Amino acid sequence: MILAQLTVNGRPVSGQVEPRTHLADFLREQLRLTGTHLGCEHGVCGACTVLLDGVPVRSCITLAAACQGAEIQTIEGFDDDPVMGELRQAFSREHGLQCGFCTPGMLIAARDIVLRVPGADEARIRTELAGNLCRCTGYRGIVRAVASVATAERSAAPGAPAVTAAPFAEPAAARAEMARFTVAADRPALAPVAAAAAPASSGEEKGWTTFADSFVIAAAPEPVWRMLADFPLVAACLPGAELTGHDGRTVKGSLRVRLGPISAAFAGSAAIERDEAARTCLVKGAGSDGASRSRTRGELTYRVVPEDGDRSTRVLIDVRYNLQGPLAQFSRSGIALELARRLLADFAANLNARVSPGGQAATVPAARLQAGRLLWSALWAWARGWFRSGKT
Ligand code: FES
Ligand code: FES
Repeated sequence: MILAQLTVNGRPVSGQVEPRTHLADFLREQLRLTGTHLGCEHGVCGACTVLLDGVPVRSCITLAAACQGAEIQTIEGFDDDPVMGELRQAFSREHGLQCGFCTPGMLIAARDIVLRVPGADEARIRTELAGNLCRCTGYRGIVRAVASVATAERSAAPGAPAVTAAPFAEPAAARAEMARFTVAADRPALAPVAAAAAPASSGEEKGWTTFADSFVIAAAPEPVWRMLADFPLVAACLPGAELTGHDGRTVKGSLRVRLGPISAAFAGSAAIERDEAARTCLVKGAGSDGASRSRTRGELTYRVVPEDGDRSTRVLIDVRYNLQGPLAQFSRSGIALELARRLLADFAANLNARVSPGGQAATVPAARLQAGRLLWSALWAWARGWFRSGKT
């Protein structure tokens, strides 16, 4: 293993990597920056494009260990970038995306074009974008979107000539990428990395999806166990959840989620069985979404165990659920599973915010679930399989 140390979206990070670990896996698996997508993993589709020291590279064929000391910018790192802001609006306006799988890499490549060749005409944009493949929209909307921003950039810099189709030169990005494969011999000693959390597992059986996961709360087991029996607090920590009734053994409520154009509000009830001695709880529930005519039922078991000598608590979760109706297609393809995991991660973050000193209100708003982070990561599981299956 090699300890990689680099800067990602302005933040110093480090992590243990295999010599063969590519940058995309490091970003996605260790840093959870899942906006960087993986399609071909052969340097062909451009879905994994990120900036490495300001230059677009394929993170699927860039070794993480070769990025020592480099500055990486992923799609999550452009929130305050005005050109990226214009491109995002233009992509929406011009229908430059459909499933969105190619879009993070497409946007980063497009920003590079706009800044490097302001005023680029359609032919030049098509040449420059040739390394970014989209399997949904066709390219007209994408090219229109990039052209509109490139034209605006040229207008903002009077006197800059329009840029037309140019012979294809060896991309600077490729040269920079190859140079990164050499690690400097005088690299200073690197800081140790924290141990990774226990990996989650998942599986499927006859229409049912099961997964196991866990999270850690920075409080002793007893208060955490009590918090988990506080239904209004649990609902407040679960983004999109609304509690409409509870009596200690049953709860009623709804959970609203939005995945891009897909919106669902599951209303239902659940029975709660808590084993105080074993600090184990079984939740059996069912719900339906009237708008999509989808139904779900399932069981969730959680167990509270001490961690780090009672200073913190690990909550072990086992989930088994069945989704029926139009939304079931997303269950089969992994989107619902990713959604469930994201909900769990946000729930854990909110519980931790509650137990932190002075922490009461720092909860993740439901809107966060409706925004890009969840959508990108959830669609990833679906789109990755779809790309690999070769479907058109
Ligand atoms: S080019 Fe990296 S995933 Fe396709
Ligand atoms: S929008 Fe490009 S692959 Fe779907």
